[in-house]
Amino acid sequence: MPIITSPQEFNVDDLYVDLRHVIDRPIYLKCEGFNFAGSVKLKAAAAMVEAAERDGALTPDSVIVESSSGNLGIALSLIAASRGLKFVCVTDPRCNPASMRVMRALGAEVRVVSDKDANGGYLGGRISHVRNLCESDGRYVWLNQYANRNNWMAHYRGTAPAIDREFPDLEVLFVGAGTTGTLMGCARYFRERKRPVTIVAVDAVGSVTFGGIPERRMVPGLGTSSRPALVDESFIDDVVHVPEPDTIRTVHALASRGFLFGGSTGTVVSGASRWLDEKYPGEDPVAVAIAPDLGERYLDSIYEDGWVREHFGDVLSDAAGILGD
Ligand SMILES: Cc1ncc(COP(=O)(O)O)c(C=O)c1O
Repeated sequence: MPIITSPQEFNVDDLYVDLRHVIDRPIYLKCEGFNFAGSVKLKAAAAMVEAAERDGALTPDSVIVESSSGNLGIALSLIAASRGLKFVCVTDPRCNPASMRVMRALGAEVRVVSDKDANGGYLGGRISHVRNLCESDGRYVWLNQYANRNNWMAHYRGTAPAIDREFPDLEVLFVGAGTTGTLMGCARYFRERKRPVTIVAVDAVGSVTFGGIPERRMVPGLGTSSRPALVDESFIDDVVHVPEPDTIRTVHALASRGFLFGGSTGTVVSGASRWLDEKYPGEDPVAVAIAPDLGERYLDSIYEDGWVREHFGDVLSDAAGILGD
């Protein structure tokens, strides 16, 4: 019976959904949404705060500031609350209203920056706002998830060994790329151990992380409009880019089988399924994909018919078509 005193102590790290009855492929989907922050970002948040405290960068007077599309902000909100620290989350209009409400309920200040950067995204505007805050007052501490090595270290020490324990014969690992913390931590772990695991990064069409052309993206979590400093392609074997309509169709297909996942899980599962169809036709290598969060936060967006129609038209008319038996 786990008994905890702070919220970050609890995290389910050994739950997998076998997707063979959903998409006709035995991909094992590692569920990262079962903790008090509701997402994989709890690990990065905890590692970055612990390291900053250890280094003396964070003191009881500090105000943590971070740019986040939602999930890291929620994770930092709960860690700051549990440690009695203040936290300011700088986000943009694509952040789910539900995520903003969760952060505020946990005592965080949420600032929404609507300035678009040269690539038509919001990341540049968010980062400038963070930099300005830090210049204005020395109490602000920016953990900088885009460049902080503790972001990927959290997965190098936690997520990847957890997968390795359960799947010693793993052949392919699919990881979505946002800051690329999850991806780089897992990729470095398997590469350094010289394991024959093919690491496939899954990104959204319209993201520039792996050199794509910037385009409008509506689903938060994956993809960037500025290349993250953590990314190092020499550790990655392949990259799949998933169009957002496929993301939407896939999350709805999963939901129709009772699994309500977040948007980026739709991207990862869609990319994994397409990659396996291309590279392993008629074969089933041991494959794991990572599901970063669950679906409740997206009830007003990807699970809302009006929102889906407004942004993606009639995309759901054939959602059932991607289901397996
Ligand atoms: C829903 C969701 N999916 C995927 C990611 C990407 O994770 P990472 O930043 O480790 O690349 C994030 C990051 O915020 C996220 O919130």
